[in-house]
Amino acid sequence: MTTYSTTGKTNWWKEPIESVELIWIGLVVVWGLIMTFMMPYWHVVGKQNLSNESYKTKPEVYLKKAEAMVSEHTVRTIGQQELPVVAPPVGSDVYLVARLWEWWPALELKKGQSYRLHLSSLDWQHGFSLQPENINLQIVPGYETVVTITPTTSGELSVVCNEYCGIGHHNMIGKIFVTE
Ligand code: CUA
Repeated sequence: MTTYSTTGKTNWWKEPIESVELIWIGLVVVWGLIMTFMMPYWHVVGKQNLSNESYKTKPEVYLKKAEAMVSEHTVRTIGQQELPVVAPPVGSDVYLVARLWEWWPALELKKGQSYRLHLSSLDWQHGFSLQPENINLQIVPGYETVVTITPTTSGELSVVCNEYCGIGHHNMIGKIFVTE
């Protein structure tokens, strides 16, 4: 093996490349190509990478839309924090707010019905991970991500934040109730 020398006698970029190094470079290129093609492949055959729409927004604009929905369709509250539970009309636009450190509000959706779920952050990056389903979306401030969702089983789903967002990250858990 040769190393870069400061004596000025060698130019490191002219050194021959070790065969082991060439093998590694080859592996990296091949793996990079595999991962690149897996992105569209997973989108088509997998269940995790959903088709979504995204729009530019502003935190205050997005919050207004969410607040309007909450004041119109709240059916009850849960927990000590009195988190509103919103039952939006079937097929409507549903706004879920990500912020330090909560998903606001909780949602109550009907099984087998479709909704347009809007997601955006009011502060910094959060991750929308729907449990126990395997759905993951990055939620960034300034952008509104929209996915059409149709719950297929009734019960209680949790929204877990899967982007580290500070001291309350592990408590950032939201609720989606699915009723028959
Ligand atoms: Cu929000 Cu981690």
